[in-house]
Amino acid sequence: MSDRLPYKVVFAWKGETDEEYLWCIEQTLYFKDGQPLNMILDDGGDLTNLVHTKYPQLLKGIRGISEETTTGVHNLYKMKANGTLKVPAINVNDSVTKLLGHRLLLSKEFVLDLSSLNPTGESGYEVTTMEEACKEGNIFVTTTGCTDIVQGRHFEQMKDDAIVCNIGHFDVEVDAKWLNDNAVEAVNVKPQVDRYTLRNGRHIILLAEGRLVNLGCAMGHPSFVMSNSFTNQVLAQIELWTHSDKYAVGVHFLPKKLDEAVAAAHLDKLSVKLTKLSDKQAKYLGLPRDGPFKPDHYRY
Ligand SMILES: NC(=O)c1ccc[n+]([C@@H]2O[C@H](COP(=O)([O-])OP(=O)(O)OC[C@H]3O[C@@H](n4cnc5c(N)ncnc54)[C@H](O)[C@@H]3O)[C@@H](O)[C@H]2O)c1
Repeated sequence: MSDRLPYKVVFAWKGETDEEYLWCIEQTLYFKDGQPLNMILDDGGDLTNLVHTKYPQLLKGIRGISEETTTGVHNLYKMKANGTLKVPAINVNDSVTKLLGHRLLLSKEFVLDLSSLNPTGESGYEVTTMEEACKEGNIFVTTTGCTDIVQGRHFEQMKDDAIVCNIGHFDVEVDAKWLNDNAVEAVNVKPQVDRYTLRNGRHIILLAEGRLVNLGCAMGHPSFVMSNSFTNQVLAQIELWTHSDKYAVGVHFLPKKLDEAVAAAHLDKLSVKLTKLSDKQAKYLGLPRDGPFKPDHYRY
């Protein structure tokens, strides 16, 4: 923490305890001049939960919440449903520029075929159950945000030296505990890479102990992906602050126009050039020349 700046600078560090993590969050509640926070910019819902449960007296001064993650957004919808949410929130996670950025540019670097409970079988990937996939795959990456995805009975059927990891939030998708309890041998090949020998003689290579693999085994998200996310966050904060009258307590999406503004700010980096609609073309399509170009219900 720096004393020379007019505001507090809080650092997180690898290996911090739960208490230290909470301490870090609590440092964001008050500015140095004693003023409490007036907006929440969250990434997982912990600050939102902390303020609602432990510091509810601060809620009246808070104009809005913007939430980054799937997990945090689930939390907001739950709070809204049970009546505990007290501040309007924007779900940044489902902005197209955030969601597609994370899925297409980040997770897809890892994932080839998927097991899913989504009935649509989208994007032409082979979709099957874990019961089937566990016998065939060489590399397994869980990314459901759900619990109990890869379990003991799956490990037992995997090919020798199958690699297993998780990219979803938290550590509940892969049953690392089962491996620790049931393997006959565990060798730490190098930091964040463990090779287990099962009773059937086959091996499983577990990355990052089943925790988020891109954080455990790599340097996190590419800065371009994060730039998309953080631009969404900043625009959501400005929107909630400047147009608070438009947002009732509840969970809202970032207006399409702002989502498109995030995209526009990043197109150069991808060498994408967009055609500018002529007045005649815009009129023909029934669209404003400067967007939004898609209706709110449009799914990319
Ligand atoms: N590590 C990272 O950098 C990173 C980045 C983005 C998201 N995440 C995390 O990844 C997880 C997923 O996020 P998302 O935005 O893709 O969520 P999502 O809800 O859009 O996608 C999850 C998919 O998993 C499927 N699913 C859920 N439970 C399942 C089950 N039991 N069996 C099979 N399929 C199941 C759902 O049908 C859905 O298609 C979340 O936990 C999120 O926090 C991590």
